[in-house]
Amino acid sequence: MVSIKNSRILITGGAGFIGSNLADHLIENNEIVVVDDLSMGKIENLPKSTQLHFFKHSITDTNFMSKLLVKWNFDYIFLLAAVASVADTISRPCETHKINQDANINVMEMVRVNKLPVKKILFSSSAAVYGNNPELPKCESSAIDPISPYAIDKFASERFVIDYGKLYHIPTVATRFFNVYGPKQNPKSPYSGVLSLISHSLMNDSIFTIFGDGKQTRDFTYISDVVSALELLSENPIANHEVYNVATEIPTSLNKVLKIFEKISGKKITLAYKNERKGDIRDSYADVSKIKQLGFSPRYSITYGLKKYWDMLNSKRQKG
Ligand code: NAD
Ligand code: UD1
Repeated sequence: MVSIKNSRILITGGAGFIGSNLADHLIENNEIVVVDDLSMGKIENLPKSTQLHFFKHSITDTNFMSKLLVKWNFDYIFLLAAVASVADTISRPCETHKINQDANINVMEMVRVNKLPVKKILFSSSAAVYGNNPELPKCESSAIDPISPYAIDKFASERFVIDYGKLYHIPTVATRFFNVYGPKQNPKSPYSGVLSLISHSLMNDSIFTIFGDGKQTRDFTYISDVVSALELLSENPIANHEVYNVATEIPTSLNKVLKIFEKISGKKITLAYKNERKGDIRDSYADVSKIKQLGFSPRYSITYGLKKYWDMLNSKRQKG
């Protein structure tokens, strides 16, 4: 088991779902700085610790980011801040481009210009870059076919981060997450991750809308597996200037997820159906043999992960 210790770590988007789970995991042995504008993230997500320093700021604020990077001299930088909803980027492509691409390139530029001695910069890309390429499972060498502003920005940023790394000798790595789920995923927007929306509907006995026929599949990946992958890739020196899928290798349809959730919760979910979403991908699952070679092994099946997620939501509700 790898573990990062005694390090200064920046997590952009650290008050969000993946970032705050990563902060929980790393806080004990490290000093963590989180930059988040709280557009989706929540301050309550963050661990309460004197080793956690929170800045409510947009990563698009170049001046602020530049000063922060120079002042803190981070060992590790996790670039997780983004407008993470594909549909949201379709509604406001130019605005989201500034966050999902320009701000990340700016971080690379600040590190380059100031010759900052980072041990690793990790950029969180997405399975969305494969688009509707029919090849399944998706390997890192599969053809890229981005079909949304989100996916275009993810792919371009991924290339920038990796090639900046190669050109200017900055250790970098990129992850292509598939559909991550688990505690602290925010269901507040209609564009939130589908499993957070289903669990919210189940908890509140409200209607859940399926876009399309529910037969679309995703490689749903439990957050704890993602946190393990993030730590592994940031520590492992072989993971340099490379991109890695992070997933389970198992496709599950929305219809199946709904059945499993109903069984676990003992509740019946009320469904409505609407047309398939524009820019939606039909099927998606990964080949993760590349990261497995570094020692990664996903531990959570969909049933085990959903059970853990449901139990945590219930215990949170009971605590009030
Ligand atoms: P999230 O929305 O919970 O987290 C993103 C965080 O970024 C939020 O806290 C939000 O407030 C913050 N943010 C947005 N715009 C910002 C800005 N301008 N300045 C500062 N902070 C800003 O999403 P997540 O699921 O935790 O995703 C984390 C990263 O992983 C994102 O880059 C996302 O694109 C990527 N990703 C997520 C998934 C998934 O299934 N959750 C899959 C593939 C890739
Ligand atoms: C998700 C991530 C994206 C990531 C990608 C990688 C979110 C919000 N998006 O996109 O950041 O890059 O995985 O694979 O986490 N659906 C419904 N009803 C709803 C909501 C969604 O039927 O109320 C459907 C969608 O139409 C889609 C599927 O569920 O077919 C998954 O949707 P969503 O959770 O938004 O994820 P992706 O679009 O796959």
